[in-house]
Amino acid sequence: MIRAAMHNSEVPVLKTSRLSKRFGKRLALAEVDLEIRPGRVYGFLGPNGAGKTTAISLILGLLSPTGGHVELFGLDTRNHLSECLRRTGAVLEGVSFYPHLSGRDNLRVCAAISGGGCESRIGEVLELVGLTARARDKERGYSLGMRQRLAVAAALLHDPELLVLDEPTNGLDPAGMRDFRELVRRLAGAGKTVFISSHLLNEVEQMCDDVGIIKEGHVIAEGPVAEMVHQADVMEMTVTNADAALEVLSQIDWVGLVTRDGSDRLSVEAPRARAAELSRALAENQVYLSELRPRETTLEDFFLEVTSPEDKR
Ligand SMILES: Nc1ncnc2c1ncn2[C@@H]1O[C@H](COP(=O)(O)OP(=O)(O)OP(=O)(O)O)[C@@H](O)[C@H]1O
Ligand SMILES: [Mg+2]
Repeated sequence: MIRAAMHNSEVPVLKTSRLSKRFGKRLALAEVDLEIRPGRVYGFLGPNGAGKTTAISLILGLLSPTGGHVELFGLDTRNHLSECLRRTGAVLEGVSFYPHLSGRDNLRVCAAISGGGCESRIGEVLELVGLTARARDKERGYSLGMRQRLAVAAALLHDPELLVLDEPTNGLDPAGMRDFRELVRRLAGAGKTVFISSHLLNEVEQMCDDVGIIKEGHVIAEGPVAEMVHQADVMEMTVTNADAALEVLSQIDWVGLVTRDGSDRLSVEAPRARAAELSRALAENQVYLSELRPRETTLEDFFLEVTSPEDKR
């Protein structure tokens, strides 16, 4: 698997070690290792059925693993689940509120259910999710985006350090997604660590610092979004002498992996901005290019490439 370096030595807020879950014959999660650093927004990306909700249910202790374990804030959830959950807020799929109550009254109900003590935070969390102006309106008049933000407000009532969101932008329109993205960035700015599952690549690319990509229960890539996109910065070239080109390219320290796709075709990992330098270096060694094309991929291309079924690759 691809794992880009994480440049931080702090204790991870969330760490899974060889986390596995089997449902009968189906292995929904296979030895998953994830690490989420404090203050980061982490996107857990995967297509339908990849195992995202299963992983989240295991992290929150709603399911028990077949193998492996979860640590939150450096504590093993097998022995410290209640403390871990006190420091964690979650929004799972299909949250519902009382439609005949206002947003504010729904939060009062949530505060009462969680044992009281956080009523004083209701105003603050409404402000944080941008619902202050609509707090007196009945929930049944809320848009889907407003309902999602109300769910986040409820999850924030007990002032958790970690927020876990399962597909929070599902069904939102572009404006709703933008509002949600801004909310997530605001939470990160307020020092929260956020774990978001999604199958929406553009969203993750814009909203998250780090990403873990899951396919059929296996985490196949993990690292900072910027490095994932960078990893896909590849140039394809056709050269007059591939052997000589390989020799020249191996001497250039900013050139990454070089693969030979045919007798005279090479794929070269290198920044697009250095294409001219690349062709000059080759020409100085009597290697000439008949074609040079950047294959600059977005995280979405990268995701589609790594998650497409084997037979289509
Ligand atoms: N309670 C269960 N019993 C049996 N199989 C299950 C159960 N929950 C999940 N699965 C299976 O485990 C696999 C992973 O499901 P999961 O819901 O975790 O995927 P997901 O990534 O959340 O998908 P989606 O994007 O559709 O929400 C699927 O094959 C699913 O059918
Ligand atoms: Mg799911």
